[in-house]
Amino acid sequence: MKVLGIDTSCDDTAVAVYDSDDRKVLSNVVSSQYEAHRAYGGVVPEIAAREHLKNIDVIFEKALERAGIDVSDIELVAVTYTPGLLPALLVGLTFAKGVAFTRYIPFKGVHHIEAHMFSPFIEGKLEFPFLSLVVSGGHTMIAVVRSLGNYKLLGKTVDDAVGEAFDKVAKMLGLGYPGGPVIDRIFRNYRGSYLVLPKPQVRGVNMSFSGLKTAVKRMVEDGYSKEMIAASFQKTAIDYVVGKLRKAIRETGIRRVSISGGVSANSYLRERLQELEDTEKVKIFLPKMEFTSDNGAMVAYVGYLRFEKAERIGDSFSLNAYPSLPITGV
Ligand code: KG4
Ligand code: ZN
Repeated sequence: MKVLGIDTSCDDTAVAVYDSDDRKVLSNVVSSQYEAHRAYGGVVPEIAAREHLKNIDVIFEKALERAGIDVSDIELVAVTYTPGLLPALLVGLTFAKGVAFTRYIPFKGVHHIEAHMFSPFIEGKLEFPFLSLVVSGGHTMIAVVRSLGNYKLLGKTVDDAVGEAFDKVAKMLGLGYPGGPVIDRIFRNYRGSYLVLPKPQVRGVNMSFSGLKTAVKRMVEDGYSKEMIAASFQKTAIDYVVGKLRKAIRETGIRRVSISGGVSANSYLRERLQELEDTEKVKIFLPKMEFTSDNGAMVAYVGYLRFEKAERIGDSFSLNAYPSLPITGV
């Protein structure tokens, strides 16, 4: 079946077409709004909504065209309804309902974090159980996934998400937004020594990133170079996340590990995960680069899985958007 996937939860307008018969993504179109928000140093919800509204028709048409299909070929519409910026979510949700309603096809609301969690399996083979590390701009958590909808949270950040820390550190260093890719680029070209940042002490596999931010602030005041601070921050933050993941692997004995979210694009994280495969004898599942940051393909995929699980019954058109809902409530 051909599934349309829509995500407008934050600052990317994303529409994709997924073919569940061939297990293939036929198109995956994302329009970023960086320019519209740059002057504000962060994402402004009302501006995000206005940009989505301006772009969604065009992105939708492009997704159909690239997939080589007509709107009449779509059999299911999947859309992110939580978590995210409320005005932004509403644009995608309303658009999705419109497509489903006018075409007499079912539609399915998708939890954005659940979509990330399954993103490494979009075009691959899905097997349970697995450990899931989500590292995005809004979430950082490690959970056991026993089946679709059956999750046990092992730990999460007690303050900032790791992507958020990258963004805030980049802002402090005057490197622009989003910070992750810029800091990663600096790290890759950096050849000097690293400053020692204190590793936050939190129990179990919980994590904390706000202390790293404070340490960075001090280093800026002490006059260290931007490159040295950025590279040292990336090394510390990623080593810290990998340490927590290793702990979760040892505690659960689960050998299949899914990594997802914007920060899963990080080159040093990917390098460290390769080592982990050897030392811990685990299999790491990473999303394709184009599925690391927000995209419609992961929404289409999870929408399809949910639709199948619900014996092919869609959601009610009265489904609302929510800024935040626990993932277990999906
Ligand atoms: O998953 P995502 O696209 O959006 C949310 O659901 O939050 O994640 C965006 C986050 C941003 O904080 C961005 O700075 C970070 O992912 N990011 C990276 C890299 N690419 C994107 N962080 C570290 N290294 C990267 N290469
Ligand atoms: Zn996301």
